[in-house]
Amino acid sequence: MKNLMNITDLTVEEIDELIAVAEDIIANPVKYQDACRHKLLATLFFEPSTRTRLSFESAMHRLGGSVVGFSEAGSSSSAKGESLSDTVQTVGCYADIIAMRHPKEGAPVVAARRAGVPIINAGDGAHNHPTQTLTDLLTIWRCKKRFNNLTIGLCGDLKFGRTVHSLVGAMARYSGIKFVFIAPEELRFPRYIIEDELESRGIEYKEVSTMEEVMPELDVLYMTRVQRERFFNEADYIRLKDTYILTPDKLVPAKQDMIVMHPLPRVNEISVAVDDDPRAMYFPQAKNGMFIRMALILKMLEVTV
Ligand code: NCD
Repeated sequence: MKNLMNITDLTVEEIDELIAVAEDIIANPVKYQDACRHKLLATLFFEPSTRTRLSFESAMHRLGGSVVGFSEAGSSSSAKGESLSDTVQTVGCYADIIAMRHPKEGAPVVAARRAGVPIINAGDGAHNHPTQTLTDLLTIWRCKKRFNNLTIGLCGDLKFGRTVHSLVGAMARYSGIKFVFIAPEELRFPRYIIEDELESRGIEYKEVSTMEEVMPELDVLYMTRVQRERFFNEADYIRLKDTYILTPDKLVPAKQDMIVMHPLPRVNEISVAVDDDPRAMYFPQAKNGMFIRMALILKMLEVTV
């Protein structure tokens, strides 16, 4: 596979294979510790990140490879006016694979034309975040042992949140999936994705404005942060930022085996009091991110162990 721009660049069979490799890495880490010796990953992050960048870097180190990169555009030559295309073409001369994050939707597609090495989209604006979705899928798989017959609630900023866009694209390919979109009017899930991914396939979904009204139905509750950096107007952000706050009392009517997910970082949308609930999966989810990225790097570099 040349590049990963969108989660649907991977077939469901390829996702199954990545999950199987990630599970094997979790069970037998030593087997993989030199798999990418002498290989170099570049992480080009034009937007802030903790988990995505550090899990990619940890993944490469745990495969015995090396990492170069930058964590803010200001420390690269883009601050001097260099085009993305030129930056990536240069880094492609040094590294074997590139993971990049950029505030502009579609930037990784432009970068991939010039890179000469595989490019992984580590988040492009409000568009897609395929490796977060791989992380989410591994988490759902480890908790539920299935991808079919699940009711998935997505809550918060469904308009600008790229993680939910990619997750819906991935989950819409399984059978018996129902989506429940929980968002304020201004932050509703994009129409174009509903039309392309759900209505065209007859997939069940509903849009509601409170989590309380749907809590007992859900198998997965996927919380998201209101994406402050994508708002045009700070006043709108302030008005909307605390629309949803998950607290222990709201979880009382939820299924005992429902899981609470969040790509992180959280701001206020999950109270820290929820962290001790056995249904809280967001930190295990972050850990899964490293293992699935190890599996992805192996696949994209065509390394067999
Ligand atoms: C997400 C992102 O960058 O889109 N973070 C992540 O990669 N885990 C979610 C967010 O920033 O809200």
